[in-house]
Amino acid sequence: MTSVDRRRLEHLVERERAAFRLAHPRSAELFSEARHLFGGVPMTWMSKWAGGYPLYLDSAHGCQVVDVDGLSYVDFALGDTGAMAGHSPGPTVDAVVERIGRLGGITTMLPTADAEWVGAELERRFGLPLWSFALSATDANRWAVRLARLVTGRPKILVFSYCYHGSVDETFVVLDHDGVARSRPGNVAPPVDPLLTTRVAEFNDLAGVEAELAHGDVAAVLCEPALTNIGIVLPAPGFMEGLRAATRRHGSLLMLDETHTFSAGPGGCTMAWGLSPDIVTIGKAIGGGVASGAYGLSSGVAALVGGHESADLVDVGGVGGTLAGNALSVAAMRATLGEVLTAGAFTHMDDLAVRFVTGVEEVMARHGAPWSVTRLGARAEYRFTQPAPTTGSESAAAEDETLDEYLHLALCNRGVLITPFHNMALMCPTTTVRDVDRHTAAFDAALSDLFS
Ligand SMILES: Cc1ncc(COP(=O)(O)O)c(C=O)c1O
Repeated sequence: MTSVDRRRLEHLVERERAAFRLAHPRSAELFSEARHLFGGVPMTWMSKWAGGYPLYLDSAHGCQVVDVDGLSYVDFALGDTGAMAGHSPGPTVDAVVERIGRLGGITTMLPTADAEWVGAELERRFGLPLWSFALSATDANRWAVRLARLVTGRPKILVFSYCYHGSVDETFVVLDHDGVARSRPGNVAPPVDPLLTTRVAEFNDLAGVEAELAHGDVAAVLCEPALTNIGIVLPAPGFMEGLRAATRRHGSLLMLDETHTFSAGPGGCTMAWGLSPDIVTIGKAIGGGVASGAYGLSSGVAALVGGHESADLVDVGGVGGTLAGNALSVAAMRATLGEVLTAGAFTHMDDLAVRFVTGVEEVMARHGAPWSVTRLGARAEYRFTQPAPTTGSESAAAEDETLDEYLHLALCNRGVLITPFHNMALMCPTTTVRDVDRHTAAFDAALSDLFS
């Protein structure tokens, strides 16, 4: 194994930054002119892109992105999953154009027939019979957490250290180096100390989960079936089954956030691994890039919600949003689920992700890089440690911002985009073998310079 020479790494980062600046004058110009945007960008996380400023988008189709300097890229970031169906997939575009153009009506407070179709399709994929819509995964999580507290009469949720479920106040708790629960570093002005609302355990630690659930105050475990926001951390054999049994034993609900783990197949990990959650939440990809989200309830949970007559679910009770389930959003979900993110598409995306991982492993082995790569269906991610981490905290300890910056810039300068957060690559239905091999070649070139 070869360790990273930090001085060489610093030098390479400088080299790649210079190449980035040289190639992107128009993006630099637009960025310098953005004086009315907080942080200089439309959304603060856009400043996370390596290079000092983000590329400005000209156009995007499938997995190809073209920037305002006229350079094109193979896009493996795919909107951090929001574009897992590919950019502007044809059937979604057609449905959106039909809805907003010929039919008319984007948001009207009235249902369309598409909503029932989408609910039935989500049941077919995720097994839960009753669905409600949101415009983001964050909101789906927020509203479902409220329902979980309502039906159990318990105040807390349990999450896994280094999880991410959107900007949901209750989820920003981690275990520190001594295994003590604390507000996640950087948590922006939480409304209350999140330890009042949240319990936390390490992913893959059933004993830790049991100990937290034993307090009897946990309404729901909110988790991804595999962590995807601190690299990919897969569940150990039996962990998800153990988690399900523990939640049942302690009277807590199991709430699976499939927003990213949807990459595992047409029904996410729930279908792929035969899981039986009480609640599923999802967002991002299901609308093909149009703002969408949803949460599904078991009939038992739905019946319990219905029993709380004083809970105001139709007006100002804290669940729902005016634009949620609007005609445009559900039309996009129907087309995306019905015609784009099909079982056949997932087979293709899986095959490509396998090829991606094989290429990365081969390159890492050849250069002696002491790293690992993990795959979840159509999604893959490399991490600067070996073997692959089994908990969020272990994975967090492997973070290396300078290495991230180097690889992101080296790939970008060779026509490949991966997520600005860590090192995730996602396949879409139109990604090709050639696209994957382009990443492998760029990754190889980056590692050659780093380890030579
Ligand atoms: C697992 C998971 N859930 C929810 C969200 C929130 O999605 P959004 O920001 O689109 O609301 C994210 C965002 O990255 C996520 O990774």
